Amino acid sequence: MKAKEIRNKYLKFFEKNGHKIIPSAPLIPENDPSVLFTTAGMQPLVPYLLGEKHPAGTRLTDYQKCVRTVDIEEVGDNRHLTYFEMLGNWSLGDYFKEESIQMSFDFLTKELEIPVEKLSVTCFAGDEDAPRDDVSAKCWEKAGIPKERIYFYGKSDNWWIAGEEGPCGPDTEMFYDTGKPACGSDCQPSCDCGKYVEIWNNVFMEYFKHKDGKYTKLVQKNVDTGLGLERMTMLLQGKETPFDTELFAPIMQKLAELAKNDNIQSRRIIAEHLRSSMMIISDGGRPSNIDRGYILRRLIRRMIRHLNKIEIPLQELSTLIEINVENLKEMYPELEKNKDIIKNVIIEEKEKFTKTLAHGEREFEKEMKKAKENGLTQIPGEIVFKLYDTYGFPPEVTKELATEKGFTIEEDKFQELFKKHQEKSRQGATQKFKGGLADQNEKTISYHTATHLLHQALKTVLGDHVKQSGSNITEERLRFDFTHPQKMTKEEIQKVEDLVNEQIKRDLKVKCEEMTYEDAKKSGAIGLFTDKYGEKVKVYTIGDFSKEICGGPHVTHTGDMGTFKIKKEESSSSGIRRIKAVLIK
Ligand code: SER
Repeated sequence: MKAKEIRNKYLKFFEKNGHKIIPSAPLIPENDPSVLFTTAGMQPLVPYLLGEKHPAGTRLTDYQKCVRTVDIEEVGDNRHLTYFEMLGNWSLGDYFKEESIQMSFDFLTKELEIPVEKLSVTCFAGDEDAPRDDVSAKCWEKAGIPKERIYFYGKSDNWWIAGEEGPCGPDTEMFYDTGKPACGSDCQPSCDCGKYVEIWNNVFMEYFKHKDGKYTKLVQKNVDTGLGLERMTMLLQGKETPFDTELFAPIMQKLAELAKNDNIQSRRIIAEHLRSSMMIISDGGRPSNIDRGYILRRLIRRMIRHLNKIEIPLQELSTLIEINVENLKEMYPELEKNKDIIKNVIIEEKEKFTKTLAHGEREFEKEMKKAKENGLTQIPGEIVFKLYDTYGFPPEVTKELATEKGFTIEEDKFQELFKKHQEKSRQGATQKFKGGLADQNEKTISYHTATHLLHQALKTVLGDHVKQSGSNITEERLRFDFTHPQKMTKEEIQKVEDLVNEQIKRDLKVKCEEMTYEDAKKSGAIGLFTDKYGEKVKVYTIGDFSKEICGGPHVTHTGDMGTFKIKKEESSSSGIRRIKAVLIK
């Protein structure tokens, strides 16, 4: 069965069982600076798990695009991926353990036709925070899993939470027996030998873990499940790795054809990082030196290093992107829509990196020689940092170069220097933003409010993909950068101008409220999600038109701002447009 068929079967099955199919949220969380990427299907649903009403009801299902980068260095082996798709179904205070387990059992055995003999399950063993989950075990038995294939484990295996704080609970996990021989008489699902592979996780979210480590009950009992699509595809097709499935086969084959110095690990890294980068760029991510932009930069640069390693000319990148778009567009139509942006961003990044790559490699060789002469087997953190800072080498690239020569790198020291450096960059960015508003007077304040009106007007006219990526204000004009794939048409510019002027004429009241970041997000406020917000934030509401997290200041009424006029709409960098506009009094 192909991945897309598994996805369709899943969504249809849960739809048939009363679930509403909701769209995948973007990989880059909306207005959530606390996480870099969407890492699980439940993440965009947190407010609803906490009790807020979801417009689609209490039974939901979707496929969610996810990026997890904790294991970035492991990519290249036979299972780790940074991008993956998670199929999920949720009960928001609706059904609980029994129905959830029965549905999972039916989907696996009837829809996917997995023989019951291949399934084992695990349940929570209980501790001082929550009781042993005998209820789930009974449900499994009733569904058809024999007692001897039901295991109980503690928190480290059978409890799920995203991070340190938030909704959580005991989970029950399903395992697929690959048929490989047991590694010993005690071989069980918790074992890492490869016989058992986890395929699905049903979390019974009825607790909230607080910062101080204490647990309280949520207002409702939820179910949150996640099934990794790539892994399921691989197992059902009897393949050893996800790279052998149709999701990666065309790109893996092309890489093999092109490589002069083939190496399966490098091919996997290239194939995986290319798909991941394409998905991130398509959802609005751009390479940079901080936060999520830096993850994207690392993915692209590591991929480039491996293309060089197996001697594939970098001009082939364009063809490789085409192959992935062709192969994946049915599942991800956005890849075709954003193909040009994806190509531009990756090629621009390739050009930046190749400028310094050769110099960096020479510098690396020099440092290696020095280290050898001094009898060291480790590259000092300062050198790893220098290679990063001067030549743009992500640490995993340096680490790989070092490993190839039998060396290690001093990671702790690098991380320490890197953190300090990122802090400085962030302060710099905040300073720059503030700088634009440092001289506050009537004019700059009006421009600031106009920026909010413009931001919302662009979203209304062009679509929700529009995100602020920069802003600069002087007494004479405003400048606003935002994500949008193409040049705006004359009509679109006119519509945006009209919409802003209409709000000015309506003389809307501008209201400022202080609230927690969570509440701001819940209230639907938009904001600069790359900024680090404190506990409390200010939310500025302009009548019924705009709501945005912002430090202010703003006009109190829109009526006296003047007439808004867009003077220029141009490209700022790939996928980013820039508007210059004035207020005429
Ligand atoms: N949130 C759980 C997970 O990520 C189930 O979806 O595994």
